[in-house]
Amino acid sequence: MSRKYHIIGNWKMNKTASDAVNMAEDLVAGLEPQKDVVIGICPPFTALSALSKLLEENSHFNIELGAQNMHYEPKGPFTGEVSLPMLKEFYVTYVILGHSERRHIFGESDEFINKKVLAALEGNLKPILCVGETEDEREAGKTMEVVRGQIEAGLEGVELDQMDRVLVAYEPVWAIGTGKNATPAEAQEVHAMIRKLIEKKYDNAVASKLIILYGGSMKAENAEGLLLQPDVDGGLIGGASLDSPSFRKLIKLARKLSAVEV
Ligand code: PGA
Repeated sequence: MSRKYHIIGNWKMNKTASDAVNMAEDLVAGLEPQKDVVIGICPPFTALSALSKLLEENSHFNIELGAQNMHYEPKGPFTGEVSLPMLKEFYVTYVILGHSERRHIFGESDEFINKKVLAALEGNLKPILCVGETEDEREAGKTMEVVRGQIEAGLEGVELDQMDRVLVAYEPVWAIGTGKNATPAEAQEVHAMIRKLIEKKYDNAVASKLIILYGGSMKAENAEGLLLQPDVDGGLIGGASLDSPSFRKLIKLARKLSAVEV
């Protein structure tokens, strides 16, 4: 497979800046310098500054920094929001957009998320566009329709030459933080549909390079079957990224599987 596995931790609203540094120090202490797998950490905003320094000093581990959200405006009267220029000062590479917690708890719409995707691309960040159906939608047979709609709306206006910076995360809402992951076959079915959709909207080259992550209760114990699916290119990991041994296990597994696949 020419696509590298991406193992990206989404720490959500966990860890102070000092907790984040302790965890990152512990994480790298047990890793070998490597380039086989793209590793990412998306801590809370308040830990970005400290982590950007630490990751720069440890650049041989190739761990990229991500943010969990941003506003589409560069500055202005948006109390509580953070903008792209603020993130870029901390060498942020990725920004998670449209996470289901943003959609369902904070009421973010497809249109709002799309504005952020466009702003992230304009400013040279890599958006990780999150999509996924609720349990009711899956039971009603609407999974494909919902995910297709979120992808189409989220990527509205994104040009072909910007697509090499877009990542997609398929995160079924019923699997997030529940301990109940999608089966490899369930994930593959949706990932394959997403890749086909991108091929139709753009072209085959874009689709075959697109990184599509799975997210939702992924951990080392259930990741192998998921990662071995042809259209699953890694994971967006919540709970299992919060302590270094379990996050490291996932990174090591992805390294082992990429060695097998080369
Ligand atoms: P989880 O979260 O791994 O804890 O289910 C994944 C996510 O929400 O990105």
